[in-house]
Amino acid sequence: MSTAHRGTIFLEEARILSQLAYDAEQFVIRLAAPKCAAHAQPGSFAHLTCDVTIPMRRPLSIMRADATAGWIEILYKIVGAGLHALAAKKAGDRVSVLGPIGKPFTVHRQRPRALLLGGGVGIPPMVFLAERLKEDRSYKPLVLMGSEVPFPFRTRPSATVIAGMPAGTLACMPLLEEWGVPSRLASRADFAGCYSGFVTELAAEWLGSLGPKELAEVEICACGPTPMLRATAQLARKFSVPCQVSLEEFMACAVGGCAGCTVEVRTPDGPAMKRVCVDGPVFDAYAVF
Ligand SMILES: Cc1cc2nc3c(=O)[nH]c(=O)nc-3n(C[C@H](O)[C@H](O)[C@H](O)COP(=O)(O)OP(=O)(O)OC[C@H]3O[C@@H](n4cnc5c(N)ncnc54)[C@H](O)[C@@H]3O)c2cc1C
Ligand code: FES
Repeated sequence: MSTAHRGTIFLEEARILSQLAYDAEQFVIRLAAPKCAAHAQPGSFAHLTCDVTIPMRRPLSIMRADATAGWIEILYKIVGAGLHALAAKKAGDRVSVLGPIGKPFTVHRQRPRALLLGGGVGIPPMVFLAERLKEDRSYKPLVLMGSEVPFPFRTRPSATVIAGMPAGTLACMPLLEEWGVPSRLASRADFAGCYSGFVTELAAEWLGSLGPKELAEVEICACGPTPMLRATAQLARKFSVPCQVSLEEFMACAVGGCAGCTVEVRTPDGPAMKRVCVDGPVFDAYAVF
């Protein structure tokens, strides 16, 4: 590991505390990784060894971190061999965790209406950010999530009224509701209580319902597939609100050493190549799209 990250990124042999399976090959794994848990921030990810037979680690966002109990939680969806092997592991097994890695989301007090958009496996950092924001009553977060496969939690109609939500858009994430953080769900798969469309379209409806004074308090944070992030950046431009996006890129080392994850970013000095693993994964949307 590069010396620049000594003391901020930790290597731990983590015991699996639980592994829950959801529809569409989605899993939530809880790992005992006290150092990673103590330093993780919303937007951080962990680089996991899925099995001894698979040398390349896989980057996965941290969805929750309990510094006191010393665990982190990760939501993942199987794509190929690595995550397939991880899904076969049971409570009590061990996996190597390198983390926490990356520049997290930064919310600003002058923009208390944090609009958090999560799409598919981009949902985890938004849950983490919502959990942190609920601790500070000056923020008024709203979480909107989109998925084309069943959500990796049991949805239910919300008991909270959200001004500006289209009629019938009632389904929420119960965990967020318990925390007092309003949420709504979007899908084109016709799930009960969900907005019928993309999560960015739902966000556009809500943003369109706000007056200039309220819009001046909005900041968007988003994570999800690239087309969703591009649409989010367009939305932010349309409503003139700041926007941060968490990017996904193929990764090898994940600690800044191989330059395998670079993307072009606009800077005041012109275009520059940035590493998604350590310069990101969170970037200013206007600099990327
Ligand atoms: C910062 C970051 C956070 C992520 N967070 C999550 C998350 O919370 N949940 C989740 O399910 N997925 C997440 N991903 C995507 C996840 O890393 C890939 O889907 C996963 O590596 C695929 O591994 P596999 O073994 O199932 O697939 P394979 O196809 O066998 O993977 C082959 C190789 O490609 C790489 N790879 C494949 N797809 C991606 C991708 N989209 N991004 C980066 N590398 C990829 C793998 O690391 C591996 O080296 C994240 C990616 C990044 C970069
Ligand atoms: S993956 Fe090696 S520099 Fe980012």
